Amino acid sequence: MEEKPLSYEESIRRAGDALKRFPLIDVQGVPLMSTIAANWKAVSEFSPDPSDLLIATYPKAGTTWAQEIVDLLLHNGDAEMCKRAPTAVRIPFLEIFSPPPIPSGLDLLKQMKPPRVIKTHLPFQLVPKGFWENKCKVIYVARNAKDNAVSYFHFDRMNLTQPEPGPWDGYVDKFMKGQLSWGSWYDHVKGYWKERKEMNILYIFYEDMKENPHKEIERIMRYMELSVPDDVIERIAQLTSFNVMKDNPMANYSYIPKPVFDQSISVFMRKGEVGDWVHHFTPDQSQVFEKDYAKQMKDVNIPFRFNI
Ligand code: A3P
Repeated sequence: MEEKPLSYEESIRRAGDALKRFPLIDVQGVPLMSTIAANWKAVSEFSPDPSDLLIATYPKAGTTWAQEIVDLLLHNGDAEMCKRAPTAVRIPFLEIFSPPPIPSGLDLLKQMKPPRVIKTHLPFQLVPKGFWENKCKVIYVARNAKDNAVSYFHFDRMNLTQPEPGPWDGYVDKFMKGQLSWGSWYDHVKGYWKERKEMNILYIFYEDMKENPHKEIERIMRYMELSVPDDVIERIAQLTSFNVMKDNPMANYSYIPKPVFDQSISVFMRKGEVGDWVHHFTPDQSQVFEKDYAKQMKDVNIPFRFNI
C-alpha cells in the first residue's frame, strides 16, 4: 500500500531537533541561511519553464499578500480553490532548504507541472539565470525601509530558524549594514529597480497595495495577461485584505508549527500597516537611519512612501 505523503506541518514536526537558528553564510557577498548556502549549486541551476511566474521580494515586503492575490487571480477569485493547500505548498519558496523530511522548495517544484508560481527572496543578481533567459514574468514587491525593518525584526524574533535578532537598536544597525538574511535591503530594491524595464519586471509597492488594492490587483492582472471581471477583482481585494488573510489558515502561516514559527512571541500577520515604524524608531534612530538612507539610495529615485 502506498504511504500517504506527509503534510507540510507534519514534516516540520518530524524534523524536530534538527531545526535551530541557522547561521548565515556568505554566498557571492550575500548572507544566506546555512541550509541554503549548502545547497546553493542546486538552487542556482534551477531551470524554470517560460510559463512560470516569479514573485520576488526582500523578506517582509508583502510576499504572502502578493502570493494570495496571484493565486486568486489565477483561479478567478475562487476562495475555496485557494485554500487547497498552505501558501508554502501552493507557491513554493525557490531557495528554501530545511532539514529532512521537510521538502525543499526545489522538491515541491519538481512535483508541480508548469505554469507554476514561485516565491524568492534572492536579490536580482542571485536569481537563477533561467528566469531571465526564458523571459519569465517577475513581480517584485517593495516596502519602505523603515516598516520593512520593523516587520523583519518581529519576524526574526518568532522565526526560530533565523539568527537571533537581538535588541532593536542593534537590529537597525544590522539592517543598514546588510547583515540580515538575504542581505542588504538597499541593494535588493535597487537591483530589481534598475533592471525592471530591461527584464519586464512588474515593480509594485506595499504602500500602493494598501492605499488602493483594487488598482494594484488590476495592474497585476494585466501583467499576467489575464482578464478578470471587475466584481471578481473587488472580491479578490476583500479576500486579500489584512483582516481576512489574518484569519485564513491557509494564508496566515498558522500551519507552521512552533519549532519554526513561535507565534506566541509575535504573529506572522502582525499589523499589516504603513507607518508602524513610528512606534519603533526613536527620533535619534530615525535621524541616523535617514542620513544613511540618503547615502545608500543616492543613485536611484525609487518613490518609496513612509506614510500614506
Ligand atoms: P507586519 O509585520 O508589518 O504586520 P511577507 O509576507 O513578505 O513575509 O510580509 C509580511 C508582512 O506583510 C507582515 O507585516 C504582514 O502582516 C503583512 N501582510 C501580510 N498580508 C497582508 C495583507 N493582506 N495586507 C497587509 N499586510 C499584509
